[in-house]
This record gives sequence, structure tokens and C-alpha cells, in this order.
Amino acid sequence: MSNLRVVVAGATGRTGSEAAKAVWQAPDLELVAAVARRRAGEDLGLLLGEAAWGVPLESDVAAAVRRTRPDVLVDFTLAESAGRHALDALRQGVRPVVGATGIPAGDMDALRALVTATGLGAVLIPNFSFGILLLARFCREALRFFPDVEVVELHHSAKRDRPSGTALQLRAVLEEAGAHAPVAVHSVRLPGLVAHHEVLFGGPGETLTLRHDTLSRASFGPGVVLAARKVMALDTLVEDLGALIDA
Ligand SMILES: NC(=O)c1ccc[n+]([C@@H]2O[C@H](COP(=O)([O-])OP(=O)(O)OC[C@H]3O[C@@H](n4cnc5c(N)ncnc54)[C@H](OP(=O)(O)O)[C@@H]3O)[C@@H](O)[C@H]2O)c1
Repeated sequence: MSNLRVVVAGATGRTGSEAAKAVWQAPDLELVAAVARRRAGEDLGLLLGEAAWGVPLESDVAAAVRRTRPDVLVDFTLAESAGRHALDALRQGVRPVVGATGIPAGDMDALRALVTATGLGAVLIPNFSFGILLLARFCREALRFFPDVEVVELHHSAKRDRPSGTALQLRAVLEEAGAHAPVAVHSVRLPGLVAHHEVLFGGPGETLTLRHDTLSRASFGPGVVLAARKVMALDTLVEDLGALIDA
């Protein structure tokens, strides 16, 4: 079988650079282009402190998609641009795997409609970590005994959206699974933090805290590679890593 051809947008960013490294290292994936608005022409491998990869940065996502006609666009740019990139990719017959969070509701509606119209699969997942997936599963078990629950999300001060997409997804999981609604979500932004989520359950005379810590953004790589492989067989928009694993 031929390799999956992948464009990574946001490839110089904190998260996109880890996605690009994971794509580069996956034996069945080929990094055909890497995009960021700055540093055009520079080799991505060298920029990321590795050997030269022979992949020069390009500055325009739509142009890179048109030039390379990849199978998958992986997008870790920002909320303002990622929805637009995904819509354009679908119109070009390219399946988007979107990691950027906080995408405006209008773009989300357009994305859902275009996936339905084209029958081309897409993935939009606010947290590609397998640990967060397990946290959600353990929450469902804890809720059977502790329906009173709140969520605290703590992130580095450069994170723009709040609450985090992951916290919102955790809240949805909790409320669907029977938590006393509405489940409060608290946000902390401080230098020194990476990405941390706590789910606190309270009952008579005891509390239970489930906590997940992202220590490095390398944790997102395996989930991104899995999504790139799985999206090829999808005909819907999948927004949940668990559903993607089971797909
Ligand atoms: N799904 C997950 O598991 C997960 C995990 C962590 C973060 N995230 C999300 O991923 C997104 C990126 O976060 P980050 O912390 O990695 O941000 P970041 O470090 O600021 O990186 C953003 C990257 O996107 C590029 N970029 C921005 N706008 C662009 C555009 N219009 N066209 C092309 N490239 C563009 C930036 O380079 P230039 O400035 O040079 O363009 C940079 O390479 C956020 O939405 C964040 O919430 C998701």
C-alpha cells in the first residue's frame, strides 16, 4: 500500500511541531508539505533542531494543499484559521484532521454540512492524548457513585481560549453520563503550566480527584498519526478520540 500523503499546517508551533515530527517518523505516512506564515523556504527538520528533512516551509495552507494534493491535512494553526483551512481542504477532496481548538460555531456548522455533503471523513479532536481519553472513561465510572462534580483546567498563559476544548468535552461527557448539571468548569492560566485537567467528585465525607497532566506535547503525536490513518475510512465528522479508536 502506498504511503498516506500528509500536509501539516502550523508545523512550527508548540503542538504542530510535535505533530509534524510524529508524521515524519511514522513509516506509512509521508510529510509532503509543512506550513506556517513565517520562515517560508527554511527546512522544517532544521528549524525543529533535527537533521534536514528536505521539507521547506510554505506560507499558505490552501496553496500547499492545491500543489501537493495530499490525502490528509493536519491542522494545528489557530481557531481563526483552522476551520477555513478544513473547509477548503474538503472542497479539494482532502480529509482534514484538525487539532486547533476554539473554532467558531459558524465554521463548525459549515464543516459539519460540508462533510455530510461530500461524504468525506474529517476529524476534529480537542485533545489527542490517550491519557485524556482514559480520564473520560474513568469519570463515567466515578459518576455512578459521585454525581456532584466540577472540572478545573490549568494551562500555560499563552493559551488563548478558555475554558479549554478538552474541559468542555469533559463537561459534556459528565453531563451526558448523569452528573448534576450544569457542571462548573474553572480555568487557570499561569506561566510554567503545560496542560492539566482535574475532575473533582464530592460525596458525603469524601472526595475523589482524577487528574491528567500533559508533560510534553509529544503526547499528542500518536493520536494524530492514528487520526490520519483512520480518517481515510470515515464518511462523517468524528469529534471524539474514543469514537475514532473504535471506528
Ligand atoms: N487537539 C489537541 O490535542 C491540542 C493540543 C494542544 C493544543 N491544541 C490547539 O492547537 C492550536 C495551536 O496551539 P499551539 O499552542 O501549538 O499554538 P502556536 O505555538 O501558536 O502554533 C501555531 C502554529 O500555527 C501557525 N499558524 C498560525 N496561523 C496560521 C495560518 N493562518 N496559516 C498557517 N500557519 C499558521 C504558526 O506559525 P506562524 O505564526 O508563523 O504562522 C505556528 O506554527 C490551538 O488551537 C490549541 O488550542 C490542540
